[in-house]
Amino acid sequence: MPSIVILDFGSQYTFLIARALRELQIPADIVPATAPSEKILALAPRGLVFSGGPDSVGRRGAPKPDPALFQSGLPILGICYGMQLLASHTGGKVAPAPRREYGSAEVEISTPCPIFKGLPSRFKAWMSHGDEVAGLSNGFKAVAKTAAVPLAAMSDQTKSWYGVQFHPEVAHTEFGSKILENFARGVCKISERWTMASVMESQIAAVRARVGRGSVVCALSGGVDSAVAAALIQRAIGERLFCIFVDTGLLREGDRDRVETLLGRSLGLKIKTVEAGALFLRRLRGVADPERKRKIIGKTFIEFFEKEAKRLRGVAFLAQGTLYPDVIESVSVHGPSASIKSHHNVGGLPKAMKLKLVEPLRALFKDEVRTLGREMGIPSEILDAHPFPGPGLAIRVLGPVTPEKIAIVRRADAIFREVLESSGWSKKVWQAFAALLPVRSVGVMGDGRTYENAVVLRAVDARDGMTADWSRLPHEVLQAAAARIISEVRGVNRVAYDVTSKPPATIEWE
Ligand code: XMP
Repeated sequence: MPSIVILDFGSQYTFLIARALRELQIPADIVPATAPSEKILALAPRGLVFSGGPDSVGRRGAPKPDPALFQSGLPILGICYGMQLLASHTGGKVAPAPRREYGSAEVEISTPCPIFKGLPSRFKAWMSHGDEVAGLSNGFKAVAKTAAVPLAAMSDQTKSWYGVQFHPEVAHTEFGSKILENFARGVCKISERWTMASVMESQIAAVRARVGRGSVVCALSGGVDSAVAAALIQRAIGERLFCIFVDTGLLREGDRDRVETLLGRSLGLKIKTVEAGALFLRRLRGVADPERKRKIIGKTFIEFFEKEAKRLRGVAFLAQGTLYPDVIESVSVHGPSASIKSHHNVGGLPKAMKLKLVEPLRALFKDEVRTLGREMGIPSEILDAHPFPGPGLAIRVLGPVTPEKIAIVRRADAIFREVLESSGWSKKVWQAFAALLPVRSVGVMGDGRTYENAVVLRAVDARDGMTADWSRLPHEVLQAAAARIISEVRGVNRVAYDVTSKPPATIEWE
């Protein structure tokens, strides 16, 4: 489908440009800023957006687009760094801003311009820049200003090139969506509609084309991504999809039942559950180091999965719930992000098993996957479930894992989540769970002295899990959870609540 192609120059807001366009049902793709023009033009763009970025256009080595793109005749919208690139490419001047603007500023439109069609002459916009365009060459003219920035927007209508110093993709910019819509629908004349129904259809067709008469195996984790990927592949190839669910013995209360009932019986996925808890626990015995736990679990998981998958003769494809951010992160100008901990997934599988990958969610953001799942009738117990790490409860038992400790943390976690559910807080927080600390402390229960374990509760607010703040749960909710945990979970005499954000902490306790 023809789309607006966004060149990513490294701004933290690049994702938001694609999101904002897709919310307007405008197809949008993100590519690394320095991608060769043939690759970009192969996507059949109707227009280009140059994103913002942290660099200075004049610095040696600052990212630049393939010069052929300027000859392509395509409309271009440059945002912040992208605007500065357009200006400098055409002989204008870019310099450090004498008065830097961060945050909200009032933009005043001085000359009518197609991207500002339908806007009032003054509106609030989000600024975040160190440099600015200080002078224009012949082609461009200034079309808007702020108190501090004389060249807040520019246009060259003969080429359909536009630049804005502010960020229309950010929610704080009034009429930001309207500006993007004016560019995409008005200037670029893109009429296609990107809807979940169209995404579903095109992905089903793509899966059929890739798989042909072959069969696909899929590891279900109980999470959203693998469930939606499996449901979509099932629609494409029906009986030739085989799902494997490895019960590691490290799952939360109700997880296995949710998968078997909601995905198996209600949705009709063919699922084979593999009972593997005993071996996972044996291999984890005495291991305290969280990274070693992760490695052991990852390896054991792959062993089980591989063994089961091999029994299904003739399977040539492996389904994975890879999402758009994973794809972009690996190609963006930043390079892959630093590895803080090894995430457990089935990444090691295809190489070992010579399976080809099917990744039907590669083009979607997480909340788009949820919308797609809803469209396909996947129940909200799966779609709206809090994230849960692959290595499961093993990392939430700090120190060596034992069956008793897993049972304690599983029950405490279930109680905490039940209290959140019944108080209406489950939907308001991004993720909540209990962890078992490797300390014991003195307490008094009834008339006796106790010397028992401490459980810590964690609830966070986040957008994507990269950063997070601790949730301000009401004291009554914390009190209800703590009281129930102490009275119902044998072996716990103290409950604490974590009030650390990420950074400096992480979300998980491990
Ligand atoms: P951290 O603890 O790194 O976690 O702040 C960020 C988010 O990622 C989840 N998480 C995982 N998810 N496999 C996953 O699929 C994993 O190995 C894993 N480890 C952490 C964590 O629950 C939080 O939502």
